[in-house]
Amino acid sequence: MIAFSDRARVIAIASGKGGAGKTNVSVNLAVAFARLGGRTMLVDCDMGLANAAILLGIPSAWTIGDLLSGRCGIEDLLQRGPAGLQFLPGHSGTGSGSTLSAAERGRLLDALRPYAAQYDHIVIDTGGGIEASSLALVAAADTPLIVLTPEPTSFVDAYAMVKALNVSHGIANFEILANMVQHDVAGRALFDKFRAIVARFIDVDLNYAGAVPADPFVREAVLRKRCVVESFPGAPASRAFAALARRMACPPPPAAPQPILAEVGHGAH
Ligand SMILES: Nc1ncnc2c1ncn2[C@@H]1O[C@H](COP(=O)(O)OP(=O)(O)OP(=O)(O)O)[C@@H](O)[C@H]1O
Ligand SMILES: [Mg+2]
Repeated sequence: MIAFSDRARVIAIASGKGGAGKTNVSVNLAVAFARLGGRTMLVDCDMGLANAAILLGIPSAWTIGDLLSGRCGIEDLLQRGPAGLQFLPGHSGTGSGSTLSAAERGRLLDALRPYAAQYDHIVIDTGGGIEASSLALVAAADTPLIVLTPEPTSFVDAYAMVKALNVSHGIANFEILANMVQHDVAGRALFDKFRAIVARFIDVDLNYAGAVPADPFVREAVLRKRCVVESFPGAPASRAFAALARRMACPPPPAAPQPILAEVGHGAH
């Protein structure tokens, strides 16, 4: 964990499988946080295909690549997006799969650290799969949010992601978002199936973040170079992203310890 945790909550969006909806989830969740009034920063760390700028309709002169090579400072880079969202544009480099090196990751986190105190949420589109550098970026966040879809390949890749993060970084708590499902019940069923399989092999806590339906308005918004939450706030996917943001902005308090039970347990042994 980096030293963000008592300040902005850093949420890393990951999936294992490409095309599960990481970029759409990152952008829409960040805009939904901002619409709730949360001071929000979206960081596009996909160094291969930096698509978040397209979904926000923000052409950017500078990218994270320029920041990492020292050509610009973070204040040159930050762009204002919908609802006051601050956006750090990614770098379209060598194509899908490119991720930050350890040194680049360190420089980015150093650059972000002073900003953490000024924000409520920092959402990172991690871009990559389960190679070491992507894992390290996810592990640096407070909350890994894994995007799962009903495709069997997504299932296998999300499993690999959870296992790799657990084995190599000791991460034991994950938020799981069911994306592109038919409805909430199907999303919950997908999560339950995933959790049952994971529980057989790995000792981790998976929390159901919720479901985002497969919604043609998502693609329609992409064609307009906007995110769905902004273009079609009443669309099913937008309502799901708004609900996700509300839940993640105000997580339920941890179960209170029950002193009486604790005492009984203590006395009994
Ligand atoms: N809930 C949804 N309903 C309908 N289409 C969706 C939904 N979520 C994502 N999509 C579509 O799925 C495709 C992939 O989405 P996206 O680019 O967000 O995935 P990704 O995980 O970021 O991909 P990559 O691994 O290439 O970065 C896009 O065409 C997007 O419009
Ligand atoms: Mg993407």
